[in-house]
Amino acid sequence: MSAARIGPIAILTGAGISAESGLATFRGADGLWEGHRVEDVATPEAYARNPRLVHAFYNQRRTRLRDPRIQPNAAHRAIGELMRRWSAPVHLITQNVDDLHERGGAVSVVHMHGELVKVRNDRTGDVHLWDGECWPETPCPRSGETGVLRPHIVWFGEAIMEAERIDAALADPTLFLCIGTAGAVWPAAEFVHAARARGAECVEFNLTRTQISEHFDRTIEGPAGETVPAFVAELLTTMRVP
Ligand code: OAD
Repeated sequence: MSAARIGPIAILTGAGISAESGLATFRGADGLWEGHRVEDVATPEAYARNPRLVHAFYNQRRTRLRDPRIQPNAAHRAIGELMRRWSAPVHLITQNVDDLHERGGAVSVVHMHGELVKVRNDRTGDVHLWDGECWPETPCPRSGETGVLRPHIVWFGEAIMEAERIDAALADPTLFLCIGTAGAVWPAAEFVHAARARGAECVEFNLTRTQISEHFDRTIEGPAGETVPAFVAELLTTMRVP
C-alpha cells in the first residue's frame, strides 16, 4: 500500500465481524436465525402476536452476550485502535446489536439496528440500559407500567435508527470499509454507493465475495479477525498528512 492519505473514514460492520467471537450470523446455511424463522421473532407482527416468545428470544441473545467466553476479537480491537490513533474522524456504523465494538475500544458507535443491552418503553419512547431478562410483566423502571418494555431493536419493516448520524458519516469519507456483511439488507447495502459518489476508496472484508462486491474497489477475502488488524496496521504505519 502507498502512503495512506489522512481523511475521514467511514466503517460499516455486520454480523461477520462478531462471528469469530462466537455470535451467530443471520444468514446461516439453514436459513434460520438461532433456530427461529426471522418472521417469528424479528417483526412487529411477531411481537404483537406473541410478545413472550420475542422477549424470550432477545433475553437469550442478551444472556449469551454476557457469557464470559464472548469477547471482542482482533477485528473489533483493531477498529478501536484506529479510532484512537487516526488523526481524522473515524465513523463506525454497525448493523450489529451486540456491544463488542464498545468492549473492543470503539466510541460513539452508531447502532443502526438497535442494541441488545437496551430496552425501550413502547409508549413513551424512553430507552433504558438493560442487563438481565425482560418480560411482558416487567415494569418500566420509570413509569412502573407493565407490558410496555420492548427490545431496543429494529425489526423488519421498521425504520433504522440514527439516520442523521449515518448521513453525516457518509458525507465526506476518503475511505469506506465494509466488514462482515452479506449486503442483503437495505439501506446498509447501499452505503457503498453514497461513499463512492463522494469519491471514497471502498474496501470490503468478507470470507467470500458478496452480492455487493462489484461496487467496491477491492474485496479482501478471509476472516475479519486476521484481515482487519493487518489492514489497520498498514494504514497506521503508512499514515501521512497530505
Ligand atoms: P449476515 O449473516 O447476512 O452476513 C454475514 C456476512 O459475514 C456474510 O457475508 C459472511 O460471509 C460474512 N462472514 C462470516 N464470518 C466472517 C468472518 N469471520 N470474517 C469476515 N466475514 C465473515 O449478516 P449481516 O449482513 O450483518 O438486521 O445482516 C444484516 C442484517 O440482517 C442484520 O443486522 C439483521 C439481519 O436481518 C436486523 O436485525 C434488522
